[in-house]
Amino acid sequence: MPYLLLLLSFLLRLRPHDASVDFNRQPPRPLVYTYHDAPLSHPQQVHVSLVGNNYMKVSWVTDETDVPSTVDYGKTPGIYDSSATGEYTTYSYFFYSSGKIHHVTIGPLDPATTYYYRCGGSGPEFNFRTPPATFPIEFVVVGDLGQTEWTRSTLEHINASNYDVLLLPGDLSYADTHQPLWDSFGRLVEPYASRRPWMVTQGNHEQEMIPLIYPKGFKAYNARWPMPHEESGSDSNLYYSFDIVGTHIIMLGSYADFKTGSDQYKWLANDLAKIDRSRTPWVLVLLHAPWYNSNTAHQGEGESMRVAMEEMLYNSSVDMVFAGHVHAYERFTRVYDNNADPCGPIYITIGDGGNREGLAMKYKEPSPSISLYREASFGHGRLRIMNGTHAHWLWHRNDDSAVLVADDVWLEALSSSPSCSQKIQPKLKSTQRDEL
Ligand SMILES: *[C@@H]1O[C@H](CO)[C@@H](O)[C@H](O)[C@H]1NC(C)=O
Ligand SMILES: *[C@@H]1O[C@H](CO)[C@@H](O)[C@H](O)[C@H]1NC(C)=O
Ligand SMILES: *[C@@H]1O[C@H](CO)[C@@H](O)[C@H](O)[C@H]1NC(C)=O
Ligand SMILES: [Fe+2]
Repeated sequence: MPYLLLLLSFLLRLRPHDASVDFNRQPPRPLVYTYHDAPLSHPQQVHVSLVGNNYMKVSWVTDETDVPSTVDYGKTPGIYDSSATGEYTTYSYFFYSSGKIHHVTIGPLDPATTYYYRCGGSGPEFNFRTPPATFPIEFVVVGDLGQTEWTRSTLEHINASNYDVLLLPGDLSYADTHQPLWDSFGRLVEPYASRRPWMVTQGNHEQEMIPLIYPKGFKAYNARWPMPHEESGSDSNLYYSFDIVGTHIIMLGSYADFKTGSDQYKWLANDLAKIDRSRTPWVLVLLHAPWYNSNTAHQGEGESMRVAMEEMLYNSSVDMVFAGHVHAYERFTRVYDNNADPCGPIYITIGDGGNREGLAMKYKEPSPSISLYREASFGHGRLRIMNGTHAHWLWHRNDDSAVLVADDVWLEALSSSPSCSQKIQPKLKSTQRDEL
């Protein structure tokens, strides 16, 4: 019987990949499997994430179960004058049992400060830098990472210049039910994710749903990558929001129910209504399956979510919407309901982190007029928000042998646009506006 279930899970996990064989992709590069070759009590897969104002969550895994969930930290290497204890979890999936997965929230922390820390009282020292208190702030945005030689190249490019927070719109490990690959992924990203906060949302590869056995899915994802959903009034780790330096960031769940009246829909309406543009002039949204996409890959997969939620984002003057899923880069103009609209969000597909499926090379022709730049290459994006009104978006290609230059554009916050910011004032109804 267990073998039958394994066979079933194997067949199920092949399905999404079969769906992608009909487009031509740049040859995938081999999987990189990353080992833990230190003592069992030593931390592995260390990563940090923002949780509330001035706090950071430190997450790691130990194979040994008597390691305490404690983080010692301070501002000087080797001197830990603060300590915090958190919690741990474990999970099993068919024959796999996870190590002890520790989550410890530390703080309050000073902004723009390097902290040195040690996990569980043994093993090497790590360090991270907290985000600044004021503009400018720089985000790295990259989706569909996986764990191949392409991934490694992307991570090296990301690390080569400074940034504050990494935002990931889904598809992390590509474990696809093979749980040891979650551990391997955690080890691959540790040198980067232990240095800067990584804020993620889920993609289809995080689902790992098996009918009847794991009907809700997301077992590994929720155990390993808990995000601050309770702090933003969300009951689900699949959608949440947070504020950082004048920016309100909303992480949506393409694989959680989003229909009108669903929990996610109601949570989003409530979250948008609470935004105070004088405190957070910028609003960004991340989700996995793109609402706008002129690549032939994954056409229409984000459409029902767009129909359900686009008007809410438009009414709240969201500045940018980032998606992954399509393994390529594409930037749209400001769009609302399939038309260019100066008060709509800029849509960007950034699913080009480097996973084993390769690139999505085929585009619809001719290019729709709302699509301004599209290219199937691996890379990452950077959004540098200079102040309350101006930001600079730049797409960085990993492989610079191609002739095209990387994409780069300045944008202005919708909250500072006199004609668009009217929508943000909830009290200024359209009838009143007509009278003006
Ligand atoms: C990332 O960059 C920092 C700062 O330049 C450097 O110290 C560190 O070794 C780099 N990490 C990796 C894994 O390359
Ligand atoms: C968006 O705003 C328009 C105009 O004020 C309003 O009619 C509509 O109901 C709003 N939609 C949503 C989903 O809030
Ligand atoms: C915001 O940044 C832009 C770009 O650096 C600059 O031109 C503008 O003057 C700045 N605005 C304010 C109010 O500082
Ligand atoms: Fe995906």
